[in-house]
Amino acid sequence: MRVLITREIPRAGIDILRKRPQLELDIRKGSPLSDKDLKKSIVGVDAIVPVIPDKITKEVLEAAGPQLKLVAAYSVGYDHIDVSAATSMGIYVSNTPGDLTQAVAEHSFALLMAVARKVVAADRFVADGKYKYWDPMIFLGPTLQGNTIGIVGMGRIGQRMAKIAKSGFDMKVLYHDVTRNDKVEMESGALYVSLDDLLERSDFVSLYVPLMPATHHLIGRNELKKMRPAAILVNTSRGPVIDEDALAVALKENWIEGAGIDVFENEPNIYKLLKQVPNAVLTPHIGSATREARIEMARMVAEDVIEVLLNKKPPINLVNKDLKTPRL
Ligand code: DGY
Repeated sequence: MRVLITREIPRAGIDILRKRPQLELDIRKGSPLSDKDLKKSIVGVDAIVPVIPDKITKEVLEAAGPQLKLVAAYSVGYDHIDVSAATSMGIYVSNTPGDLTQAVAEHSFALLMAVARKVVAADRFVADGKYKYWDPMIFLGPTLQGNTIGIVGMGRIGQRMAKIAKSGFDMKVLYHDVTRNDKVEMESGALYVSLDDLLERSDFVSLYVPLMPATHHLIGRNELKKMRPAAILVNTSRGPVIDEDALAVALKENWIEGAGIDVFENEPNIYKLLKQVPNAVLTPHIGSATREARIEMARMVAEDVIEVLLNKKPPINLVNKDLKTPRL
């Protein structure tokens, strides 16, 4: 049975698969496959392990042929996969939830603190030879302690953020989600509020929603206008959740103090103005990039490939739970 892994992933996952002689692995390296190459490479494959830049459209799934049984996303997000097409074709879709929770929460705090304490600008200042004497009035930013963080989307990562914010920095936590979570409220003292309330009352706003029609441009011009002038916005979820054009203007005109952004509307292309404003810290979608998380993700996709192709069972991290008649 053939397994296509579209990019190099940590060896831990590959080693698990290599122990199964029934599996023939095709591991690609280098830059992502073009749409044309993806359609060519997937022909005759039983399982594909795609990464975020691979757009797994209905056409790509059709190009594979009737033996394709599993799309095991090497990510927690699966907005790059046409899940409903996969479901109607009887193809399982799985993802890698859980193990990257801490990594993404840590990166969110890294961005938040980098923006708050002007770490990137201060680094450039030193590198450019501008540090001539200690100055009490340069690079001033807000403390986290006692300030309010507003978490939009209280899933696994949002909950971890609430926990770290409360126990690590003694922050007040507001949150907004489609549903309330009593457990989180008990544990972190988080207060459930409307999105407008959260934007108006938070010193820091951090986003953890999946990309779907309801969350596309969830934060646009009107929402940015509601935020405090000293507020910092962090996004490690998906780029199109923020209207990037509106954010660039908000930063340029100082509607808010700054933003830490790991994901973009049209990756890897970034809205030009966003790259030019000094109060944004931008990273190339590395929220889950701890060695530990990426190794666990590799293990998870490998186990799901085995579960479906060899054990003839649904994947452990099944996304399309409404799939009635799988191709097995
Ligand atoms: C994910 O898993 O969805 C992250 O965005 C990248 O690892």
